Amino acid sequence: MRSYAPAAGTALLAALCTVSFPLVAQSTTPSMFTVPAWAFPLVNPSGPVPPPDSVELVRIPNSTRAFTRKQVGNGFDSVDWFPEQHPRMPAPVQYGVRPDGRACALCHLPDGQGRPENGTLAGLPVEYIVRQMRAFRDETRVSAAPGSPTGSMHRVAKGFTNDDDIRLAAQYYSRLRLTRRNVIREVRDVPKTTIAGMLYAYNGDGTEPIAGRLIEVPETLERHELKDPWVPYITYVPVGSVARGRTLATRGPAGAATACATCHGPTLLGVGEVPAIAGRSPTNMLRQLINFRTRARHDSTAAPMYAVSDVLSLNDMVALAAYIGSLPPSAPSRRAARR
Ligand code: HEC
Ligand code: HEC
Repeated sequence: MRSYAPAAGTALLAALCTVSFPLVAQSTTPSMFTVPAWAFPLVNPSGPVPPPDSVELVRIPNSTRAFTRKQVGNGFDSVDWFPEQHPRMPAPVQYGVRPDGRACALCHLPDGQGRPENGTLAGLPVEYIVRQMRAFRDETRVSAAPGSPTGSMHRVAKGFTNDDDIRLAAQYYSRLRLTRRNVIREVRDVPKTTIAGMLYAYNGDGTEPIAGRLIEVPETLERHELKDPWVPYITYVPVGSVARGRTLATRGPAGAATACATCHGPTLLGVGEVPAIAGRSPTNMLRQLINFRTRARHDSTAAPMYAVSDVLSLNDMVALAAYIGSLPPSAPSRRAARR
């Protein structure tokens, strides 16, 4: 657990040259905010992982392909379970750039659906992706929780030394549509979990009170580990979160200027260079709200979010993450057109 009291006046709304936002007054010094350790499951309590098997072939539902676990973990030639479901990957996405620029598809998957600990890239604006790569590279975007998977993104961003490779990857992912349907469950008691790598997994040992947390779990850990882009992720939140999140999102936590639609568009699917937030991993969105609040994200375009993040309590953030996670991840017509 760590506490932060970010410095006031760090907002530089004028730094936004390419996108214009309604000018929202920067709130006064944000009050102390304690980063909740439960929002960043980091350690694998089961200890060192054995080297991946390079003999036995593994499969996932609905794919005709088979790979070894060693192939699944290969950072320089990503496995692709459903090549027919997306355009051909450009080389940086599939093969990466040795020695440190591991392939984007290893973590964000070939179709950009991503995973809770790294996030979805499908459909994000090209310029936004390029800018975030730069922010990871110069570490103006870090994580509120030391030791989080953000460190791996720093290494990758530094490993991609050629800006053309980054642009190719950004253009590729930007063209894709997010199709993930999150399952949001409002509960008093949550199934007990264990930390598996960088996320929670069911441990089959009954339930415990949700106690204000947001717990996102893959339906099966095996499909998550094999990088199945279709494994459902179930997010447990306290009862009433979605409705509370909707109210906050529409009214704006600090009035109309901070209503999410003002900048993220009427369906929260993004506008111009402002990223979509609808239908994305609630864990990931919650972490970003915390990252803005603690100034872990302080790249040149982060400032408009401070007026939002600084007036949110942790409960508000959980409610907003649950609400935006419950929304359709792309416009129906575009989704239908892709099928
Ligand atoms: C080893 C795993 C890994 C690889 C490989 C990887 N990323 Fe990431 N990426 C992450 C993690 C983890 C995060 C989440 C960081 C955070 O939220 O703090 C992330 C976040 C991002 C984000 C921020 C998304 C957002 O919504 O703001 C972008 C953009 C991104 N990655 C682009 C890329 C691109 C492009 C590549 C290939 C050139 C790539 N990543 C390769 C792990 C990876
Ligand atoms: C004044 C404009 C503005 C408003 C209002 C606003 N946002 Fe944002 N938001 C942004 C911008 C700009 C970014 C991208 C920041 C960057 O480039 O670093 C962003 C990014 C985000 C992200 C991170 C997305 C990612 O891909 O990592 C989340 C989560 C988010 N906003 C949630 C919200 C929520 C929830 C609301 C409403 C309660 C909201 N925003 C209202 C401008 C705004």
